[in-house]
Amino acid sequence: MPVIDVVQGDITSQDTDVIVTAANESLMGGGGVDGAIHRAAGPRLAEAGAAVGPCAPGDAMATPAFDLTPPVRHVIHTVGPVWEGGAYGEADVLASCYRRCLAVADALGAASIAFPAIATGVYGFPPDEAARIAVRTLRSTPTRVERIRLVAFDTQAHDLLTAALAS
Ligand code: APR
Repeated sequence: MPVIDVVQGDITSQDTDVIVTAANESLMGGGGVDGAIHRAAGPRLAEAGAAVGPCAPGDAMATPAFDLTPPVRHVIHTVGPVWEGGAYGEADVLASCYRRCLAVADALGAASIAFPAIATGVYGFPPDEAARIAVRTLRSTPTRVERIRLVAFDTQAHDLLTAALAS
């Protein structure tokens, strides 16, 4: 059972083996957390993403971390659901993102992984429900990962993730 913690900060400065980016299907970079990670990892990340992509919503694919600071060795790119009101399977796609990222992390032999609040920015997923889905999925998915870090970029996300962990 992995230890799960919540921190407030920038995912590009986390000392985990793997960091997860909330990508679009091309895996060639975008804005938000994806933009921050691509800027920190350098242009080779977009080249590697293009080589393994496209990535369907709910799936996850790994690339090297390139210029990101060690110990980060891999970036796992996952594509969240675009929120369309909740009746189109968005919750299942988001849960699949967290499950598939853990499966890919296991295949990499990663001991630790950092997640952003997937889909809660541009894709518009309600952050309170997203926090509950993240914690519920991470707690119920068998994995060899020992440490999971949920990285909140603002205090609202931090409070929601902390509340979800406490429930
Ligand atoms: N570190 C940690 N979290 C961050 C950072 C950062 N440097 N920058 C942004 N975030 C947070 C946002 O505050 C939000 O809570 O990441 C969460 C996800 O927001 P987005 O990055 O907008 O991702 P998402 O909602 O999944 O939309 C993905 O946006 O950037 C494009 O190419 C991307 O098309 C894709 C879409």
